[in-house]
Amino acid sequence: MCGIFGCVLKQGNAAPVIHASLKRLEYRGYDSVGIATISNSEIHVKKDQGKIDDVHKILNLDDLPGTIGIGHTRWATHGAPLKVNAHPHTDCTEQIAVVHNGIIENFSELKFELENRGHVFRSKTDTEVVAHLIEESFKRNPSLSLVDAVLDAVKKIDGSYALAVVSAKEPDKIVCARNESPLVIGVGEDAVYCASDIPAFLPVTNRAVFVNNGELVILSPEGYEIRKIQDASMVTREPKVIDWTPEMAVKQGYPHFMIKEIHEQPETLRNTLRFQEHYLDLISTFLDRAREVFLVACGTSYHACLAASYMFSKLAFLATYPVMASEFIEQHGKSVNIDSTILAVSQSGETADTLAAVTCSQQRAATILGLTNTIGSTLTRVSRVYIGQQSGPEIGVAATKTFTSQLSVLAQLALRLSKKRGKISQDEMDMLEEKLETLPETVETIIMTQEEKVKQIAHKYRDAKIFFFLGRGISTATAYEGRLKLMEIAYVPAIAFPAGESKHGPISLIEEGFPVVFICPRDGCYKTLIGNIMEMKARGASIIAIIEEGDEEIKALANDYVEVPRGIPEVLSPIPFVIPLQLLAYYMALERGHNPDTPRNLAKSVTVK
Ligand code: G6P
Repeated sequence: MCGIFGCVLKQGNAAPVIHASLKRLEYRGYDSVGIATISNSEIHVKKDQGKIDDVHKILNLDDLPGTIGIGHTRWATHGAPLKVNAHPHTDCTEQIAVVHNGIIENFSELKFELENRGHVFRSKTDTEVVAHLIEESFKRNPSLSLVDAVLDAVKKIDGSYALAVVSAKEPDKIVCARNESPLVIGVGEDAVYCASDIPAFLPVTNRAVFVNNGELVILSPEGYEIRKIQDASMVTREPKVIDWTPEMAVKQGYPHFMIKEIHEQPETLRNTLRFQEHYLDLISTFLDRAREVFLVACGTSYHACLAASYMFSKLAFLATYPVMASEFIEQHGKSVNIDSTILAVSQSGETADTLAAVTCSQQRAATILGLTNTIGSTLTRVSRVYIGQQSGPEIGVAATKTFTSQLSVLAQLALRLSKKRGKISQDEMDMLEEKLETLPETVETIIMTQEEKVKQIAHKYRDAKIFFFLGRGISTATAYEGRLKLMEIAYVPAIAFPAGESKHGPISLIEEGFPVVFICPRDGCYKTLIGNIMEMKARGASIIAIIEEGDEEIKALANDYVEVPRGIPEVLSPIPFVIPLQLLAYYMALERGHNPDTPRNLAKSVTVK
């Protein structure tokens, strides 16, 4: 997730406007920043790695000439957060500048072709191919308009993009295009703007035009013009008046970041499917060769590791050991060695306990692999190979979208390893790959159809003194995560166990009305789980079941239930099944009068041991 912005002013200087707007988009990414303006048919660029304020102090981002320009605030996906990878990116002639939010999936192929045609790339980004593709179109047909050259380029790229392009050849316009990544136009009295999000221009205009997938927009001093990418036909769309306050706008109208991030999951899950095969292959090769594999993490990331241990075992027949990072050194510090492989999972890539476990393992010559949301973080620097989960910044302290993305990446890794080892049939592999592809829609359906129901359940149990979360098999990880969410933001004491363990102690707590949440996918554990539900029910527990749609058997036993779509394979089930639990925690926090975004005593990234 990055932020893009562009403006065409009738008069004045574009650079300070772009700088101020990028500040308002900083929540979308903050590892590098850059601006390109046009004046006297020349492109002027300033960019560097670092936060906007730090870069501004050194470069003075306001000091660029011209009434037209584009800007970018970055959250690295391809290429480390270095100056050379900061946007805008230019072509060989420096006549074209591009900013981009999204992921171009076929960039390696395109780069290879372009390099063969003599183009020289400066960065490691996927975005730079766009500048060279446009340059190439102009080379072939010098009389082409910028719009036609951009149309040519976007037809060649696969993946997601919101693009803004300027060219010294047509210094009076910005051409933007959208596929999947957000893009919105702001219409002012004396200016037009394009941005990833409304807050970028809200202080200067509240008239917005939403750009749809497959559309291209031309901004000029005359205003805006929308065309379809497919056939260049014109689209008419009037601006809408946005009545959000700037604070609401940053949260896209949601009252809290947490609920915004819960709702973002269909999009973030789509992004996890845009990995370069290369990294999945590399990591799965290391896992394949490893003698012993530890999955090391803290908090929510640990729950992703726990779920992953079931995935690796069931799909690739690989035994892995999920370990809480804070315990790793005591438990395994002496035995870890050159034959050990550590897959460290950390959203921030900076969690002190996780890094301590990594350092200890590294000193003992183990292989370090990383999965993180923060390219450029310490974890990416100490890992032999790492993979970026591409969820964009998560602002709510409670991890939501980053958890489901971790699960998706880990499932893809397990599948890749399974393929390498020939452990499951082609039919099963095809089915799982297809289900992974449709998970974003599944999650969308759950949010759309079940949110209201979860809200009512939260209201009903708002005064509960304690909650129980139970699941079997891989759903144990889902139960643990449901408990953690509820505890950390609604401050409800909660217990989670593998359901089979509940009768070895925890069941003694049960009395009339005690709320017990059961995670009930129709997997191999289903029948036994029903037995566990009966045990709890017989002792007066109130059963809240997360079930597959139409599961009449459990519906008949449950006091309350939430449904997720049917037919989700066991190994992928934590992704959809955790959604109602995230919503439950969120609405319980609201019911009990707490701000879910800033739970007391907690920090987003814990950098002390
Ligand atoms: C903190 C956060 C949790 C997070 C954990 C691990 O406790 O509050 O939400 O799961 O750290 O963070 P990491 O960045 O390593 O995934």
